[in-house]
Amino acid sequence: MLDFLDHVTALPTNEATTLVIMLLAGLLILVFTVITGVPPMPTHRLVLPVMFDLIAGEKTPRIAYDLGCGWGRLAFALASRFPGAKVIGIELSPLPWLFCKVRQLVQRRPNLEIRYGNFLRMPLGDADLVFCYLMINAMRRLQAKLDQEVGDGTLVISNSFALQNWRAERIEVVPAAMSAWVYRYRVSADGSHHQVSNETP
Ligand SMILES: C[S@@+](CC[C@H](N)C(=O)[O-])C[C@H]1O[C@@H](n2cnc3c(N)ncnc32)[C@H](O)[C@@H]1O
Repeated sequence: MLDFLDHVTALPTNEATTLVIMLLAGLLILVFTVITGVPPMPTHRLVLPVMFDLIAGEKTPRIAYDLGCGWGRLAFALASRFPGAKVIGIELSPLPWLFCKVRQLVQRRPNLEIRYGNFLRMPLGDADLVFCYLMINAMRRLQAKLDQEVGDGTLVISNSFALQNWRAERIEVVPAAMSAWVYRYRVSADGSHHQVSNETP
């Protein structure tokens, strides 16, 4: 460690500053990956069209969420795809969130709102469409929240991770993207989107 610090202090000031900023940025991303349990990895470019295919033919949503919008790949694409919808991207990790805010200045999407915070602590009851690319534990927490808040007809499209106790109405596999699975769920008022347990009492 001391050797490393010696190397850094021996660098020209500009290079040392850049290195320290990059290390701090990496550390910040790491800390928030530990907090959320999900790294800010964007949806694969070849998975994105498959996610959109899963909503082809559906009516334009009024409000669509990208829960954990990371660097904005999905949220920006969603806002372009549905100019008539309000798209809300929510992100807790500060650097990806800041990146999205700066990106909005360059790639204007009037119908896209980027919110900072934990989507588990925000109301989601107005969602018609929910996109997510999370991981197992985060999906479990999200499922509990969706169960309580979203209404009949809400569509949930999840990249790679399933909602354990929900029944997907369609699943697509994307061989060109390491065989990623993409799930489509549709909430129904009668609860039939819930998985039927095979366990006998
Ligand atoms: C794998 S990335 C997906 C990014 C983007 N949705 C996409 O598909 O390109 C998941 C993001 O969710 C964020 N995240 C995880 N849990 C969150 C929470 N409870 N509230 C807000 N953001 C969260 C992580 O910080 C991470 O940036």
